[in-house]
Amino acid sequence: MAIGRIVGETVRQMAAAMQPGMTTRDLDEIGAAYLKQHGARSAPILTYKYPGSTCISINDEAAHGVPGKRVIQAGDLVNIDVSAELDGYFADTGASFPVPPVTPEMTFLCECTQMALDLALDAVTAGERLSVIGRAVESVAQRSGLRIIRDLGGHGVGRALHEDPRNVPNYFTNRAKERLEEGMVLTIEPFLTYGSGRIYTAKDGWTLKTTDGMLAAQYEHTVVITKGKPILVTAV
Ligand code: CO
Ligand code: CO
Repeated sequence: MAIGRIVGETVRQMAAAMQPGMTTRDLDEIGAAYLKQHGARSAPILTYKYPGSTCISINDEAAHGVPGKRVIQAGDLVNIDVSAELDGYFADTGASFPVPPVTPEMTFLCECTQMALDLALDAVTAGERLSVIGRAVESVAQRSGLRIIRDLGGHGVGRALHEDPRNVPNYFTNRAKERLEEGMVLTIEPFLTYGSGRIYTAKDGWTLKTTDGMLAAQYEHTVVITKGKPILVTAV
């Protein structure tokens, strides 16, 4: 899917351009320009009339951070999440990027969250249950002492930003008993934090923040399920 590579490349280019002193709006504009240049349309704008082309969430902001006047600082942990549509197909990807100087805590959180995504990617194959994803993420959380933000999870994606399966839990639950099928397209996106894992919606009505102000990280890929390893649609 062309749109997978476009959103993956958008995140990569935004991360490469990111510097302390720039605003999140500046960074969003770089992403918006790249999407436009490739004929893609921002999915959050299309779907939710979201006030930005991409989501930029800093430190204790777990997701849906609205681009604006906030200035990116040295030592911030910045999550860039890009979803977009081209020719009726949607893809969604995200990653967290520490802005130097990087603390050991930040490195550990990022490495563990990335590992949770990698283990989940290893686990998904046609015939397995959806719950293999939550089991994989939980195994990393248990080993690392980090907490899962349980209110946030993956989702089906393809002809819309959010479709069935509506919720791909990042923790093990018997309710996620649905079987993965060949050709299914979904996102895998673990969110880990040092704190309680609880979040709330900020006053802007969009930004999801940890209630205890602790750092959060997320890594996300859109994948197609196969009988073997999944196809990483958003890999660049
Ligand atoms: Co996303
Ligand atoms: Co997503």
